[in-house]
Amino acid sequence: MPNRYFTTPIYYVNDKPHIGHAYTSLSVDILKRYYNCLDQNCFFLTGTDEHGQKVEKAASDASIDPQKFTDSVSQNFRDMSSLLNLSNDDFIRTTEKRHKKSVQSLWEILEKNDDIYLSKYSGWYSVRDEAFVADNEIEEKEGRKFNSFGSELTWVEEESYFFRLSKWQDKLIQFYDDNPDFIVPKSRSNEVRKFVESGLKDLSVSRTTFNWGIKVPTNDKHIVYVWLDALTNYISALGFPDTANDNYKKYWPGIHVVGKDIIRFHAVFWPAFLMAAELEPPKQIVAHGWWTNEGQKISKSTGNVIDPHELIESYGLDEVRYFLFREVPFGNDGDFSRESIKNRINGELANNFGNLIQRVLSFIVKNLDQKIELTDNNFKFNTFVDILEMEKSLNNHISDYKFDEYLKEIFVFLNSLNNYVDKQAPWALKKTNPDLMKEVLANICICIIRLTQYLHPFMPHKTIKILALFNLDESFKSFSKIEEILNMKSLKINQPEPLFQKIE
Ligand code: MSP
Repeated sequence: MPNRYFTTPIYYVNDKPHIGHAYTSLSVDILKRYYNCLDQNCFFLTGTDEHGQKVEKAASDASIDPQKFTDSVSQNFRDMSSLLNLSNDDFIRTTEKRHKKSVQSLWEILEKNDDIYLSKYSGWYSVRDEAFVADNEIEEKEGRKFNSFGSELTWVEEESYFFRLSKWQDKLIQFYDDNPDFIVPKSRSNEVRKFVESGLKDLSVSRTTFNWGIKVPTNDKHIVYVWLDALTNYISALGFPDTANDNYKKYWPGIHVVGKDIIRFHAVFWPAFLMAAELEPPKQIVAHGWWTNEGQKISKSTGNVIDPHELIESYGLDEVRYFLFREVPFGNDGDFSRESIKNRINGELANNFGNLIQRVLSFIVKNLDQKIELTDNNFKFNTFVDILEMEKSLNNHISDYKFDEYLKEIFVFLNSLNNYVDKQAPWALKKTNPDLMKEVLANICICIIRLTQYLHPFMPHKTIKILALFNLDESFKSFSKIEEILNMKSLKINQPEPLFQKIE
């Protein structure tokens, strides 16, 4: 059985958690829950990125010591994890001891392998993205300089250590050739490749003009560049530098889910650092698109940041999860609009899914004394869809990160189930053919249970409630449990309450 390791980026603490952060974290939560439903083992890591010039400035603007500042703002992200009820196994902070030790060890290996040398950096820097910007990537507006994300640049000139990135150019290309699925989606992969092929320059990996960071172990005038520091979190959490420990052996290399803005750091710099340290590069980099709000770029200055608290309060957590992953293909940009979330909740969740459960289960409670007999164990799922084909296809959708396709396919099943209910009309069969009525209801119940299992990774709370309506406990979310259910003699049904509130 494969062990899987999925990570979110670690979030900058100068910002409040917003829909973009929630989106990345939820995608990893879905992956972990899906593989758990297949009885596979997954490790899910998230955390906060607490060093660097940007955070130091935010702390000094608030006249607070940076450690105190990060202690308090990192909590916002841990609160987000609880709010979203994330299934993460660990939450790493780059100010933790275990992480400092890991970064300094990695540095020492890189220096020992002669992949790091001392020189001088002069060039443009984006503090917002904590990124050095090459001359051909600079845009000028009214005498000021910006990078392609619109962040203003500052001039930096200081002594600096450099990582020999240029030396790894051919090896990176070879690595991309050998691992065609390394970067998902493909379009991003082509972008990265072009960037690498256009020629890599050595990368400045230390700073001397501010203090908030991890000290270079061999020269305490320097602090480690915040991206070298941050990326290392993925192995710090597995116990690096102890590569012989169980977690490292079990889970590395991992899969990093990231937003499209930070692909280069993950798909170019990070594998190069790891190769240089003679460690295995990550297994895969999965990049998602960006959300806009009612057509507008989300930014603090526009004041249109979507707060996950507010969203969940208005629509419910499972409804938000369903919307975010049904609305937009994962690699694409998406627009959040009140109208579209309302339509999805009312049309798909309340009318289609919720109503089916409501009418069928209420009917059983009222007319069959809460009991459904499973006399014939040969449930013909294939009346509705080819279930084996569907399972394969759902599994492929998850491996390809096509969450929207996964949900679409389940709702096709749901539609045919609704049609079956209408056509068989158990309320009419009650008088004409009660045996057939029972069989039809049993079929529908089994299909609802199957659908509920598939939907569990996306709607973990509602689906547990649905299973409870059949007196099935949480363990029945596991896909393999369907056999056990099919072998039961009967199911006791509880009176359902409406599952999804319609939005006015
Ligand atoms: N600290 C770095 C990551 C270091 S990982 C070793 C960072 N942090 S961040 O807080 O700025 O961004 C974290 C994630 O949020 C990124 O993947 C980014 O793409 C994502 N998003 C930020 N705004 C977003 C949207 N509007 N929409 C979707 N995701 C967005 O970068």
